[in-house]
Amino acid sequence: KTIPWSIAQAEKAGYKHFMLKEIYEQPKGISDTISGKLSLIKGEAELPFDFNKIQIVACGTSYHAGLIGKFFIETLSKIPVSVDYASEFRYRDPLIDSNTVVVAISQSGETADTLAAVRLAKLKGAKVIAICNVIGSTLTREADYTIYTYAGPEISVASTKAFTTQLTALFLTALEIGVIKGTVTKEEEQKYIDELIKIPSKMEDFLETEKKEKRIRQLALEFYMAKDALFLGRFVNYPIALEGALKLKEISYIHAEGYPAGEMKHGPIALIDEKMPVIVIAPKDRVYEKMVSNIEEVKARKGRVIAVTNAGCGEIRRLTDRIIEIPETDELLTPFLTVVPLQLFAYYIADFLGYDVDQPRNLAKSVTVE
Ligand code: G6P
Repeated sequence: KTIPWSIAQAEKAGYKHFMLKEIYEQPKGISDTISGKLSLIKGEAELPFDFNKIQIVACGTSYHAGLIGKFFIETLSKIPVSVDYASEFRYRDPLIDSNTVVVAISQSGETADTLAAVRLAKLKGAKVIAICNVIGSTLTREADYTIYTYAGPEISVASTKAFTTQLTALFLTALEIGVIKGTVTKEEEQKYIDELIKIPSKMEDFLETEKKEKRIRQLALEFYMAKDALFLGRFVNYPIALEGALKLKEISYIHAEGYPAGEMKHGPIALIDEKMPVIVIAPKDRVYEKMVSNIEEVKARKGRVIAVTNAGCGEIRRLTDRIIEIPETDELLTPFLTVVPLQLFAYYIADFLGYDVDQPRNLAKSVTVE
């Protein structure tokens, strides 16, 4: 008698695809990454070297985490941060030296361009911190210091839980540097950690509500025939617009672009018509009112707006009824919650289109050649 399921299916724990399972595993990954990092710090900041400049290098989704890491580090520690695609960094004679720390972010720790960037950084005398999900990977062996993310194995080619655990590691590292540099007091550090610790349960609530109400699934059903999509965000959620667009193109093969909302008037607005879905990321933060104006501009051109926002944002509700409500948090931490609906949106669209969600065409989980 044959067993009617495969080992791969068993490992999906009842989910149709690894990607969906991994989206739902994010609260746990974040909690585990917080515990892992805080147990290392044990009350005392411990980064073992001094520096006055940070250079982040990464590829793909890890690069988007790096863009958000820049906001975390500059806000909390006031140290200037540059972010580069590893593939660009390695060929541009970067201005780094022994006062620079290079932070290399990689889920796999095996991405060829990221490893080449690290080797170049070391040649120039910079110290390297790895943020990595795979224990013992090449990156962790070559870095001077490693901060592990505890996402657990990520099988789906499109990265989800690795991304939110990278954000967790970056946020805690930014706090740690802030404490060392004296830009964050112990009280402020505790306040931020308390807020971060609440993220997993807020995410859990959001995911459970989606399981029941299927709001994002319905929106995906409405939009899966679209040919293009535009994602707009600003401030910490500008990189989330890039990540939302990347997720959609990776697995659904729909052309998608992420843009900082303020740049819309310099180009993308020309694309907007009644067929164009525009996904606007607009939580209550310092740029909320600006985002409302952007939605008005899109609506004036008959674009179809989906807004990711907080409950009670009445201005947005008057402009569109396609609303996804996320729980509230500190404005710096909003990317943890805004990215989840975009991951699910891409997932459901790819599934409705009948594509191989976990193994999209032409893509590899880790790109070990240049
Ligand atoms: C590939 C994967 C992406 C990933 C990128 C960087 O393109 O398909 O999901 O973000 O590599 O991978 P890394 O392992 O370095 O984070």
